[in-house]
Amino acid sequence: MANTLTITDNRTGKQYELPIEHDTIRAMELRKIKVKDDDFGMMTYDPAFMNTASCVSKITFIDGDKGILRYRGYPIEQLAEKSSHLEVAYLLMHGDLPTLPQLKEWTATIMGHTAVFDQLKNVLTGFPHDAHPMGMLGSLVAALSTYYPESRKISDPASMKLHVYRLIAKMPTLSAWCFRHRKGLAPVDPENGLSYTGNFLNMLYKSSGQRYTPDPVLERALDILFILHADHEQNCSTSTMRAIGSSQADPYVSMSGALSALNGSLHGGANEQVLLMLKEIGSKDHIPAFIKEVKEGNGEKRLMGFGHRVYKNYDPRAKIIKATADQVFGVTGRNPLLDIALELERIALQDEYFVKRKLYPNVDFYSGIIYQAMGFPTDFFTVLFAIPRAAGWIVQWSEMINDPEQKIARPRQVYLGSDERNYVPMNQRK
Ligand code: CMC
Repeated sequence: MANTLTITDNRTGKQYELPIEHDTIRAMELRKIKVKDDDFGMMTYDPAFMNTASCVSKITFIDGDKGILRYRGYPIEQLAEKSSHLEVAYLLMHGDLPTLPQLKEWTATIMGHTAVFDQLKNVLTGFPHDAHPMGMLGSLVAALSTYYPESRKISDPASMKLHVYRLIAKMPTLSAWCFRHRKGLAPVDPENGLSYTGNFLNMLYKSSGQRYTPDPVLERALDILFILHADHEQNCSTSTMRAIGSSQADPYVSMSGALSALNGSLHGGANEQVLLMLKEIGSKDHIPAFIKEVKEGNGEKRLMGFGHRVYKNYDPRAKIIKATADQVFGVTGRNPLLDIALELERIALQDEYFVKRKLYPNVDFYSGIIYQAMGFPTDFFTVLFAIPRAAGWIVQWSEMINDPEQKIARPRQVYLGSDERNYVPMNQRK
């Protein structure tokens, strides 16, 4: 069997044989297809990158039809059950699970980088107290680059390691700053001897010098949520991180761009929107009317937390979150919004509209219900997505920097505007 694709151009009758590798053809091969020798050649047209692979990657595997997610080959279900977020971050970065000494060293290194320059608090205090935390966080992460001017030398392996440590380590600290700023409280310094999530919770809730000791069930639940959000291959924010980084911008400003992309309600901002939607529905009796509005709204109104570009099956992360919710509610008490969410899911999964379009609950459908039960404000939910995703972003960035095939990201367009025309003086314009 020849591993090639034969294309006949019916405009000219010419045939072209294109090599196939990993079930893809190289888009540049299409440029050989021309009518005249001086033609530009054929391109593909793929708005929103529905069917375009922009890189090769060895980090995360998704089979959207089967609902499979693996980091470096390990099923997400096993990692959520047995691993920790920091171990997963090591796995994403290094490609293999650490030995015990490697994990200890990695943990000590990351936790040793959690502190942030005091001067950066001047940026924080400039924000209004009702500022959205994602806007603050994105600005603070971009501002980190001003403290690390060497980060512009993007391919230096020694500083590359430091960026990985810093960004994974400082995200919880900066996020906690934003959380406390909203409440008019001074930031809390990171503390040694706590877990990654334990330290984060302490920086959120410590009061009057008293260390905050979270319930171990909630600390673990947050760690599981972090594992589930750590990476998700070439999604909107990761592609943004790679695209900005491809111009050789430093990783701090690149990650700030990724945070902006994540913030949108179709991406990481959906967890906040789900909670608002459940509150708007208000009770189980109102669900049929809400579903009707979604179906008749021509895509204007969406069932937030449902549907996915890649998963055409139940998002495996949503299944794990649903199970984790029971453990959390054992401590916090049941969030009444859960009953609305469960009924909404039950009705939607039987409805022809959702069945036909293969729309299932995604990672954001149940996560907000847990976050709310744990006492997080709704507009902080996307920050809780961003903290763990920092690991995925920086690892994807470093894979891109080390990939000899990558160049500056620069899509083409199909120009359909005016042909050349002459400038019209003002007094002759109609
Ligand atoms: N509610 C109602 N209809 C929907 C929904 C939804 N949540 N999602 C998709 N559809 C419909 C859409 O109207 C379209 O219908 P039609 O074929 O009649 O025009 C069809 O399903 C295909 O939708 P699409 O917008 O072409 O699909 P997409 O791959 O471009 O969008 C999505 C994927 C996630 C943006 C979309 O499903 C959506 O808006 N979901 C709600 C927001 C959400 O939960 N986002 C979080 C995604 S998971 C976390 C992450 O990784 O970001």
